[in-house]
Amino acid sequence: MFIVMLGVPGAGKGTQAQRLEERLGLRQVSTGDIFRENLRNQTPLGQLAKSYMDKGELVPDDVTIQMVEERLSRPDCARGAILDGFPRTLAQAAALDQMLSGKGQKVALVPLISVTDDEVMARLTGRRVCRRCQSVFHLLFNRPPPDGECPQGDKSQCDIYQRGDDQPETVRNRLFVYYKQTSPLIGYYFAHGLLAEINGAQEIDRVTSDLWDVLSRIQA
Ligand code: AP5
Repeated sequence: MFIVMLGVPGAGKGTQAQRLEERLGLRQVSTGDIFRENLRNQTPLGQLAKSYMDKGELVPDDVTIQMVEERLSRPDCARGAILDGFPRTLAQAAALDQMLSGKGQKVALVPLISVTDDEVMARLTGRRVCRRCQSVFHLLFNRPPPDGECPQGDKSQCDIYQRGDDQPETVRNRLFVYYKQTSPLIGYYFAHGLLAEINGAQEIDRVTSDLWDVLSRIQA
């Protein structure tokens, strides 16, 4: 089963994808995380992505599509994946359909997590992320573990940091880019009968429970 998480930056796509990953036993594939990992490892892809991410712009489609195609070809995605941050343009959506149809598969559901722009600003300025396990926290709504222990339970300590693109000016541009380039996907997936709007302005557990209800309906 391939699930595409859709929503503005900061809607909670990553937070919910991590929870679905555990429940469904499907891999979360986050294009933002893959770019950041490449950046940490100082690969040419990481250097290229940085020049776009720092400004809140999208990395070019050809580079992103090739990277996702390679990621989805690995055995841990054979049963499906939770796509977090991809597709983000109509060209990427068409490429994904093509990739999946080549394997006799298709997108099963597109949850659209809805929140207001003001909520996004509050969330992203308070967001903190672990460099090691990629767990997402918030200084007020979802605090990092006080003892520093990694929630993945591997006994290591979390290495918490603030993302460079979570500065208010960059967040504003990321929102602009979303409305211009990504929001047309709402119509695309609505037309394919795959869109399920979820109210993201609720407590994290409540959003998970609404998501789970929608998923249960398509699995039934
Ligand atoms: P990416 O890393 O994908 O960032 P994004 O889409 O902007 O999404 P975010 O990770 O910022 O937010 P989220 O919705 O996952 O929210 P989260 O769960 O963290 O992309 C970064 C960059 O990479 C892009 O700008 C682009 O340059 C490049 N890129 C990536 N994919 C690309 C692609 N396909 N094509 C081209 N370029 C690409 O939650 C946010 C905060 O809110 C957290 O602190 C969390 O704890 C908190 N929170 C979550 N839910 C709730 C809730 N219900 N109530 C209160 N707080 C909550």
